[in-house]
Amino acid sequence: MTELDACLTEAAQKFGTPSYVYLTEAIDRRLAEIRAAFGPDFALSYAMKCNPNPGLLSWLAGRIEFLDVSSIGELRLGRQAGWEPARASFTGPGKRNAEIAEAIESGVGELILENLREAIVANRIAGEIGRVQDVLIRLAPSRVPKGFGDHMAGRPSPFGIDIEDSAEQLPRIFALPHLTVVGLHIYSGTQCLKPEAICENYRIFMSIFRDICEAHDLSPQKLVFGSGLGIPYHPGDVPLELNKVADGIRAELQTFCAEPRFSDTRLILELGRYLIGEAGYFLTGVVGIKESRGQRIVICDGGMNNHLPASGHFGMVIHRNYRMHRVGGGEGEEKVNLVGPLCTSIDRLANAVALPPLDEGDVVAVHCSGAYGLTASPIHFISHAYPREILVEGQTYTDISRGGFMSQFTSF
Ligand SMILES: Cc1ncc(COP(=O)(O)O)c(C=O)c1O
Repeated sequence: MTELDACLTEAAQKFGTPSYVYLTEAIDRRLAEIRAAFGPDFALSYAMKCNPNPGLLSWLAGRIEFLDVSSIGELRLGRQAGWEPARASFTGPGKRNAEIAEAIESGVGELILENLREAIVANRIAGEIGRVQDVLIRLAPSRVPKGFGDHMAGRPSPFGIDIEDSAEQLPRIFALPHLTVVGLHIYSGTQCLKPEAICENYRIFMSIFRDICEAHDLSPQKLVFGSGLGIPYHPGDVPLELNKVADGIRAELQTFCAEPRFSDTRLILELGRYLIGEAGYFLTGVVGIKESRGQRIVICDGGMNNHLPASGHFGMVIHRNYRMHRVGGGEGEEKVNLVGPLCTSIDRLANAVALPPLDEGDVVAVHCSGAYGLTASPIHFISHAYPREILVEGQTYTDISRGGFMSQFTSF
C-alpha cells in the first residue's frame, strides 16, 4: 500500500466516511515551492473562501502573511482562528453596509473597494467613528489571456472597477477624506495551467498598476496580484510548472519593483486553490452497487451534497471526472458510474471512471479536494450528516470537523 493510501485508510478507519482529509505536509511542500519560485518578490494572501475550515485557518495563521476574506462571516472566522484583523483584506462585490461597518470597526487591514458605492459607504462609516480607513481599489482589466478556467474581468462582470471607467471613478475615491488609498488589487482570472498565460496576465497587471499609479500620483504600499494559478483536477491535465511562471516574469517584476514609485511597495500574491487544493482528498464510502441496464452504478455515502465541484455543477460546462482512486489500490479495472446518496440524477461524482472493482465498504479518494470542496457544496440538501474533516500532521490525525446546527438531527 502506498504511504498516501496508508494515511487515507487510517483516516477513514478512525473517523469514517464521507470525510475530507487535509495533509499539512503537502501544504508545507507547496508553500516552500511558491517561496522558492518567487523568492521575496511576493508576500502571500490566503483567499479563505477556498477553504474556511477553522482548524486549517489556525494552522495557516503562522505560515502566511495575509488573509483575504469575502464576507463578515469569513472575517469573524479568521479572527477566531487567530488572524489579527490588520492582516485581513476584505474583497467581494456585494458587501452590505453592516459588513463594511463591522470590518472597519474591528480594524480590518484594508477594504478592497469593488465599486464607488462601497467607497462612499466606507467613507461615511469611517467618518462617523473618527477613523481613516486604508483601502485598495480593485480594477477589472479589459483583457484576460486565453487559458484561464474562470474569468472575473475582460467582459461584463460585477468585480472591481472596469479599467475603462477608472479615469472617471478613481478621482472620486481619492477625494474621500476618511479613506486612504494604499494600493490596487486585480483578480481577473483563475484556474490556469499555462505558465505563459499567467505571465501575460501579470504583465497586464503591471501595465495597469503603472498607468493608474502615474495618473493618480500614487506610491502604493501594496499591489495585489490575483494569482490565477491552477491545479490538475482531471485525468490528462498537465500540472502547472510554477518555475516557468516565476522564470518567465522575474526580470519584468524586478524592473517594475526597481521603479522609484514602487520602491516601498509590497507585492502580494492572492491565492487559494494552488496552496490547498492538491493537499486535500475527499473520501467517500461505497454503500451499495446497482447493475442497471448494462451499467454498474456505485452508490456512495457522500456525493454532490459534500462536493459540488466534483459533481460538475460548479463552473464546469461539460462534466469531467476529477482524478480519483480506490483507497488501497486493487487488481484490474472496471468502468463504473459513481453517484452520491441524493435523490436526484445530478448527484454524480464520476461517469464511466475506470477503477479497480469496488465493493460495499470500499473507499474512493477524490483528488484536488482541499479547495472549493465542502465550502462550495449544498450541504443541507437532503439533510445528510456533515462529512468529517481531518487534519493530518505527520502521524497526528485531528478531527477539525465543523458540524453545526444540523448535526443534532443527522449524526448517528
Ligand atoms: C478576489 C479573489 N481572490 C482570490 C481568489 C482565489 O482564487 P483561487 O482559489 O483560484 O486561487 C478568488 C477566487 O474566486 C477571488 O475571487
